[in-house]
Amino acid sequence: MKSIVVLISGNGSNLQAILDACGSGFIPGQVSAVISNKANVYGLERARQAAVPAVVLSHKDFASRDAYDMALIRQIEKFSPDLVVLAGFMRILSPGFVAHYSGKLLNIHPSLLPKYQGLHTHQRAIDAGDSVHGCSVHFVTEQLDGGPVILQAKVPVFPDDDASSVAERVHEQEHQIYPLVVRWFCQQRLQQRADQAWLDNQLLPQQGYANDEDANDEHEMAQ
Ligand code: GAR
Repeated sequence: MKSIVVLISGNGSNLQAILDACGSGFIPGQVSAVISNKANVYGLERARQAAVPAVVLSHKDFASRDAYDMALIRQIEKFSPDLVVLAGFMRILSPGFVAHYSGKLLNIHPSLLPKYQGLHTHQRAIDAGDSVHGCSVHFVTEQLDGGPVILQAKVPVFPDDDASSVAERVHEQEHQIYPLVVRWFCQQRLQQRADQAWLDNQLLPQQGYANDEDANDEHEMAQ
């Protein structure tokens, strides 16, 4: 069983999807801690309900990003993680932190990377007139939202959509693809080598694993 530490800043719906997938055995691992940089967020409650240690480490208590990230590493290390999962953790990580967890640090981002790195991705997709939007799971590297993509899911954007209706659609897909990627990692099928992602010893293309149908089949079969 792999030890997974999940970092959050908010609602934690992706955390919930991962907790559920561990609970059902879809992910051969367990969430050993949830750490939030914000107090009183619902994701902490989700952790408690799953009997997982819920830790608050506020960035406001530290003078610098480096000092916070060092303290964060100390907290994370208490749970001997095989994998660190960023699930709506809304902080830029220092190069030292990223280097420490290189190869075992995953993030989910609400766009089809490399499009729309940073914030307000749904509104930006609407403003650009995109008819397709989505989400990406990627390994984290020093480049913000720039690490190698492992898996993406697409959603349609309709003419009467607003940012919240698109966000809702994207969230549904996030809850499908993030547990699947965490499963691959825990099954030791997924690796980061230099700036590339490999699945089953195959180099993944720039947009990540391409055969959506197979990915969906695998997910459905295991449900
Ligand atoms: C998710 O949509 C995730 O893609 C996004 O935050 C949301 C967290 O939702 N992450 C980023 O924007 C990172 N740059 P959740 O707390 O319900 O899982």
